[in-house]
Amino acid sequence: MNKLSLQFQTLLLRWFDKHGRKHLPWQQNKSPYRVWISEVMLQQTQVNTVIPYFERFMLRFPDLNSLALATEDNVLHLWAGLGYYSRARNILRTAHMLIGKYGGQFPNTLEELQQLPGIGPSTAGAILAIAFHQPTTILDGNVKRVLARFFAVMHPINDKKIEKKLWDVAKQLTPNKRIADYTQAMMDLGATVCLQKQPLCPYCPLTKQCAAYQKNLVGKLPKKNVKSKIPIRSATFLIIKRNNAILLQKRPSAGIWGGLWSVPELAGEPSTKAIRSFCQQHFQIPIRDYLLLKSFRHTFSHYHLDIFPILITIKKLPEKTMETTSQIWYNLKHPTSIGLPKPIRILLHDTSYSLHQVK
Ligand code: ADE
Repeated sequence: MNKLSLQFQTLLLRWFDKHGRKHLPWQQNKSPYRVWISEVMLQQTQVNTVIPYFERFMLRFPDLNSLALATEDNVLHLWAGLGYYSRARNILRTAHMLIGKYGGQFPNTLEELQQLPGIGPSTAGAILAIAFHQPTTILDGNVKRVLARFFAVMHPINDKKIEKKLWDVAKQLTPNKRIADYTQAMMDLGATVCLQKQPLCPYCPLTKQCAAYQKNLVGKLPKKNVKSKIPIRSATFLIIKRNNAILLQKRPSAGIWGGLWSVPELAGEPSTKAIRSFCQQHFQIPIRDYLLLKSFRHTFSHYHLDIFPILITIKKLPEKTMETTSQIWYNLKHPTSIGLPKPIRILLHDTSYSLHQVK
């Protein structure tokens, strides 16, 4: 091991002992199962957002066996609001594979872990390091930023070649001892000190060796290839209400909100003609009038969606709106445990929406 790596590890671990996070819920009663669920939840999501989701998940599914018995709706219900729902579906698929192929045990090699749905190289590295104390390397967004600054990488870090180089240096820096603490320390330094905006360099243990700090480049790094601006789309959401129930449809598993329950929707802003013909065609509901509710924007990773909710109150049950496995009347007063995307949860359960006042 070279001198720089040893110095890096020593300074980082000394900092971690004093300032690292040691009381996160998944750090208690550590098990491969808990580490796996937390690492998947932490992909693209911040610690503070994850904590209540993780705690609810563990109460409902304390171990692999209880999770493997769950339905997709059960898991999506607990995931609702956390976003990137393919993670929840992959967790269930992985649970089945762990039971079916590995007898309920976690495999402990990078190759095998990466074969499981939703586990990429960094998540596999984190599970092995944190749960199995194996000297493996991670490279998530926080770690990339730390390394890009430490080595003053002047090229965009989302460039494939640069990413490969970052993996190489991350591997060189990885110690053989105290691997779980080191892994956590890297993430903690990125999340609490080496911040994207307004990094707290006076609190960093690595400033003397940090090339960006020494060259006064911290504010300029890391560089990223600018993504083109994300497009704006709009959709009309049909809230079809009968007594206290709303018509929901299960979305196909591929695509946005896959497997979650949402209201019927039409592309574009509300048009009376389009709404009438849609309702006639799909549900044989003759629409006389509807109420426009407050519109709002929901942002996905690759586009903004301007949502125009409209409330349609019906008295009679049309033939085509029977309950099926992909269509339900969701009772607002006695809601069932299903996965609702965040905007739908807001629409149905936020009392600022007039559907709660309209009889
Ligand atoms: N981000 C990804 N994994 C994490 C962990 N174990 N602790 C804190 N943040 C994380």
